[in-house]
Amino acid sequence: MIIGTPPAEVASALAATGVRLGLFRDRLMWYPELPSTNDVAALMAAREASEGTVVVADAQTAGRGRRGRSWCSPPGAGLYVSVLLRPVPRAAALLTLAAGVALAEGIARSTGLRTTLKWPNDVYVDGRKLAGILAEAGTSPAGTSYAVLGFGLNVTRASYPPDVGVRATSLEVELGTIVDRGLVLAECLAALAQQYEALHGPDGSTVRQWRDWARPMLNRLVEWDHNATVARGVAEDVDDAGALLVRTASGIERILAGDVRWS
Ligand code: BTN
Repeated sequence: MIIGTPPAEVASALAATGVRLGLFRDRLMWYPELPSTNDVAALMAAREASEGTVVVADAQTAGRGRRGRSWCSPPGAGLYVSVLLRPVPRAAALLTLAAGVALAEGIARSTGLRTTLKWPNDVYVDGRKLAGILAEAGTSPAGTSYAVLGFGLNVTRASYPPDVGVRATSLEVELGTIVDRGLVLAECLAALAQQYEALHGPDGSTVRQWRDWARPMLNRLVEWDHNATVARGVAEDVDDAGALLVRTASGIERILAGDVRWS
């Protein structure tokens, strides 16, 4: 069920994707404009909305990125999407990696574009950022825990200010053609549904798939802020808990969260 009136290409792509939307099939809410889809999804979680609720906005006026950054969200230029999930603790640990894999898969299936994942889940093309994910956990007043997984994906060149063009990119810039936003949304949601289901099953392939998409970023020099100094090492792998494993002069460091800069 779609609540609101998405553009025709979005409605038809969602309808055509059908059962492949999995848990996201039942309740998608489309808004012309919101401050932040993550905030609205969190409000819905606080009111015990069902798992799989999807909040999409054509534009955001206060789109948020990680680490307090803002996420530029002009109308019709990108995808601004948040989904409400209630993962079991084992699945919660790998949720952000699984979301990165899902975006990379959804983009590849809908456009043919091959992207690279940068830990934990930024989506890059040739060193420029195409999409980002903001995962936020909370507990409702009734005590139910939830995760809101929001993603922003640049579809047209207008999705970021011109001066950011050295470090950002969009699907249309990369492909040199008009992109069907509806198809990209539908395939990303279908891939996310599949990845989320796999996280709850026995197969344990999330980390292996993440590694495949992240390969160009591995075995490269990284640095990060640590105790008021800059630490450096070589990003080698992720472990089963999703931590980045970095080889430093004093051995392997496990990085669980934070900003890692690739050189
Ligand atoms: C990042 O790379 O810093 C994460 C960006 C996440 C942006 C998306 S857009 C939809 C959702 N709503 C928000 O306010 N943020 C996320």
